[in-house]
Amino acid sequence: MKRILVFLTSVIAIVIFGCSTSKAPIGIVLPTKDEPRWIQDQTRFMEALKKAGVGAEVLFSQGDSAKEKANVETLITKGVKVIIICPHDGAAAAAAADAARKAGVKVISYDRLILNTESVDYYVTFDSFNVGAAWGDYLVSKASGKGNHLYLYAGALSDNNAFIFFQGAWSVLQPKIADGTFTIMNSDKAVALAGKASLSRSELSSIIGQVTTNWDFNVAKSKAEANLISAKKEQKGQVYVVAPNDGTARAIADAFGKDKDVTKYFITGQDAEKASIQYIIDGKQSMTVLKDVRVLVDDAIAAALALNNGKTPEKTKTYNNGKIDVPAKPSKVTTVTRENVKAAIIESGYYEAKDFKGL
Ligand code: BGC
Repeated sequence: MKRILVFLTSVIAIVIFGCSTSKAPIGIVLPTKDEPRWIQDQTRFMEALKKAGVGAEVLFSQGDSAKEKANVETLITKGVKVIIICPHDGAAAAAAADAARKAGVKVISYDRLILNTESVDYYVTFDSFNVGAAWGDYLVSKASGKGNHLYLYAGALSDNNAFIFFQGAWSVLQPKIADGTFTIMNSDKAVALAGKASLSRSELSSIIGQVTTNWDFNVAKSKAEANLISAKKEQKGQVYVVAPNDGTARAIADAFGKDKDVTKYFITGQDAEKASIQYIIDGKQSMTVLKDVRVLVDDAIAAALALNNGKTPEKTKTYNNGKIDVPAKPSKVTTVTRENVKAAIIESGYYEAKDFKGL
């Protein structure tokens, strides 16, 4: 009897201890509250963490790497053992990741890769190359004949994803630029590299630097307006636009929609933001790429719990961050257009039909 009791007590102790280790609170640092994308990540995180019975604190960096580092330090002081960071600036975030590593805290890079440091334990991401490839595929599917007018826009130079998205788009569009299907209207840097199927980091930088939106709606709007002012009437008509995400797509679409010499535009996007789903229903944005945040959040929590328990999160691929190959498990992305919006967005349970008009 005594033996059984001792055994039972130790089992209970293991269970309780095991539980408290695996459910230790997680720190989460997101880049900005100014874009619906990251507010949605916060909401989905809170829902999933509640379900999993894991405590967490979410802090926003508001596009400021110093604030991001201070946020990481705050979370370290509070005793978290894992921090999930979506860096504002991939290279600048290395210092924050190093501070966490020094304090014995595991670092998960979330959606965007933290660059040039060994202090990243895991990368939770979507297949960003396929996001860009989906833009290219969509625009190519809508083009016929030669000389179709192509306008290029990109994300922020400080975000590694902007490079991967662009690479994905270029992999599909470059052959169609080279064979004359598309003519680039707003980037002499891209025109100069049009013969090259594969671009180096610095070549990508030169194009992205010219057509960047900096992930900012206002920058996107003024850049599109400036491009339209300098374009001749014959460079407009029916146009094809690579817009790097939904917020910038709406801003660019508004600018193109207002130009009387633009007769029709096809425009890409990503994130399936509610406002862009409405734009797609209304025919003002052509497509978006759904990156199901529920999947990313679940993957991030699973990875955090694994790391908390000294286990290795599932890995299907690695991403080189300039210093190391970071283990990752990229998840799939889905093209959403007017045709499949109901199935992809409503029937999948991503959003409710009542949030939209004219579905
Ligand atoms: C994310 C996109 C987002 C963009 C701007 C990228 O790193 O992958 O989903 O729209 O940043 O915040």
